[in-house]
Amino acid sequence: EDPRIERISKAIRVIPDFPKPGIKFQDITTLLLDHKAFQDTIDIFVERFKDKNITVVAGVEARGFIFGPPIALALGAKFIPLRKPKKLPGEVIFEEYVLEYGSDRLEMHVGAVETGDRALVVDDLIATGGTLCAAINLLERAGAEVLECACIIELPELKGRARLAGKPLFILIEADDT
Ligand code: PRP
Ligand code: MG
Repeated sequence: EDPRIERISKAIRVIPDFPKPGIKFQDITTLLLDHKAFQDTIDIFVERFKDKNITVVAGVEARGFIFGPPIALALGAKFIPLRKPKKLPGEVIFEEYVLEYGSDRLEMHVGAVETGDRALVVDDLIATGGTLCAAINLLERAGAEVLECACIIELPELKGRARLAGKPLFILIEADDT
């Protein structure tokens, strides 16, 4: 295993019972305080995707906005923000999804994707997979090919991978949800 992963894993703080009782919150803000671990995180993603002709990195608000842009810059790809409702000023398409806690909707600007775009979807964590499923659907409806999804953390017990319509999912850390 990559020796960088252990440092990344140790830099992520787990907070019990946030935002609701029974949820073990995986807090990546502490990873951001360790610039070496943060840089290693970005580097591992870039190493994996640099030869895949990615033209679009799409990041999911809010935490996908932290990790997506440095990956996009390193890959020479455009960055597309997938936003929570009513934030984008232009014409949008949207997808509803159900979360581990609550439900929400993601919106994307019409015109951000061009036909033939090759997309990577980036977020910090996959739980139920609802968020990434919505992101994949938005990009594909707009005409992009989604090659892969990438997250730092997977909660495998929630089986979110099964909702990704066969798309490969690249993760760095499997976390225990119990
Ligand atoms: C969290 C996390 C992922 C999503 C994963 O985001 O950052 O985006 O949940 O859950 P899922 O796999 O069950 O869909 P959240 O919407 O809580 O908010 P934030 O990123 O805006 O903080
Ligand atoms: Mg999120």
